[in-house]
Amino acid sequence: MKRPKFQTLTGTHDVLPEDQPYFQKVFKTVEDIADYYGFQKIDTPIIEEADLFLKGVGLDTDIVEKQTYSFRTKGGDLVALRPELTSPIARSYIEHGMHNLPQPVKLWYFGPCFRYERPQTGRYRQFNQFGFEVLGEKNPVIDNQIIQMSLDVLKELRFKNLSIELNSIGDSECRPYFKKILAGYFRSRKNAMCPDCKRRLKENPLRILDCKEEKCQRIKVNAPQIIDHLCEGCHSHFKQVLESLDELEMPYNLNPYLVRGLDYYTKTVFEIIENTEEGKLQGALMAGGRYDNLVKILGGKDAPGCGVAGGVERIVNLIKGRPGKIAKPPEAKIFLAQLGLLAKRKCLKLFEEFRKANIRVAESFSKDSLKTQLRNADKMGIRYVLILGQKEALEDAIVLKDMETGTQTILKLKNVVKEIKKKIGKR
Ligand code: HAM
Repeated sequence: MKRPKFQTLTGTHDVLPEDQPYFQKVFKTVEDIADYYGFQKIDTPIIEEADLFLKGVGLDTDIVEKQTYSFRTKGGDLVALRPELTSPIARSYIEHGMHNLPQPVKLWYFGPCFRYERPQTGRYRQFNQFGFEVLGEKNPVIDNQIIQMSLDVLKELRFKNLSIELNSIGDSECRPYFKKILAGYFRSRKNAMCPDCKRRLKENPLRILDCKEEKCQRIKVNAPQIIDHLCEGCHSHFKQVLESLDELEMPYNLNPYLVRGLDYYTKTVFEIIENTEEGKLQGALMAGGRYDNLVKILGGKDAPGCGVAGGVERIVNLIKGRPGKIAKPPEAKIFLAQLGLLAKRKCLKLFEEFRKANIRVAESFSKDSLKTQLRNADKMGIRYVLILGQKEALEDAIVLKDMETGTQTILKLKNVVKEIKKKIGKR
C-alpha cells in the first residue's frame, strides 16, 4: 500500500474506535475508586510556563533536560507541554489558595502528557496519565492510602502478578549528607562507569543508582544504601509505611536502587510493575511518592504532598493482550429505517424519544435505499425494524417489521415507543 502523505508523529498514536472501550474501562475504574476515596477531579492546561517544570521536576532531570517539549510563543514566553501533572497540580493548589480549604486536598486527574523520549514498548511521546494527589497532610498513612488505591485500580482491572518496589530517599535533612557519601563511593570507581553516570556523579549521584548499564549495575551492588542513612524523621516515617503495608498484607520489595527520575520526591517512593515478560518490558504501570517540598519550591506555603500516576497506554496494552475481551457496549435492539425528507425529519425526533426511554436504536439517516437499510439491520442481527416511508410520515404512522417472522404491522407514531417497550420487555 502506498504510504499516506500524512501520518501520526513518531511516538504518538490514534486511539481508534476499537480501542476506546479499553480506555473507557480504565477511566471508569479510576473514577470509581477516586470517588470512593473522596478525591475530586481536576483538569489543568496541557501547556504551562516551562519554568514550572524546571523548578518542580528539576533542572537536571532527564524529563526536563531531554524530554520536555518547550518552545517560545509569538509573545516571547517560554512554555512547555506538560510532561507530568504533579507540578501543575501543586501550581493550581497555590494559585487557587487551596491551603485555605479543609486539609488534605485530594485530587485526581486523567489526561495527556508529552515527553520527547525514544519510542519503544510502552514508551510514547504523547501518552495519557491518570493520578491521585493528596496535598496538605504529612502523615505516613496517606502514603499507604495512595499505594492501596493504586493496587485497587490495577486489581479492579484484573492484574494479578503485581509487585510494589519501595524505597525512601530521605529529605533535605539527610539526603545531602547521603549524596556526599554516595559520591565518595562512586568517585573512586569513576573510570569504570558509563559517560552518563560520570556526568550524574557531578549533578546528582543518586541517579547513578537507577542506571541500567551493565558496568554501572556491577558497581552499584556494593554502594551504600540510603535506608541506612535516613534521619530520625524519615526513618520513623518509612517504618510506619512498612508496618502498615505488613498489616494490610501487601507484599513489597525494598529496592535501594529506586530513586525515581523527578527531583521533587522526599521520603517514600514506589513503583508498581506487573511480573510478566511484557509487564517488565514496559516498565512501571504506576509510580509515585511523597513530595513534601514541592509546593514551597513553587512559591506556596509549606504543604506536604503525596501521590501517584499511572500510564494508561501501558495498562491498555496489557489488558488488550489478554484472552477474553472486554465487555462490548450494549447493542441496539431496534433499527430505524426511513425514506424521504419528511420521514427523515420525523425519525430524528423519534430517535430522541427512544434515547429518553433508554432504548438503543441503530439508524441510517443516509440516502440508502430501503433494501440496503434492511440488509444493514440484518447484518447487525437486529430483530425489529421500524420503517418510516413518505406515506407513513404523512399519516403519522410507522411500519414495524419483525425480521425473524417477516410479519409487518402498522403502528401509530405517537404509540411506537410504548409498543416497542412491550416487545422488548422493557418497563
Ligand atoms: P513517572 O514515573 O514519570 O511519574 O510517570 C508515571 C507513569 O506514567 C509511569 O509509571 C508510566 O506508567 C507512565 N509513563 C511515563 N512515561 C511514559 C511514556 N513515555 N509513555 C507511556 N507511559 C509513560 C510521574 O509522572 C509523577 N508525576 C507521578 C507522581 C504523582 N508522583 C507523585 N504524584
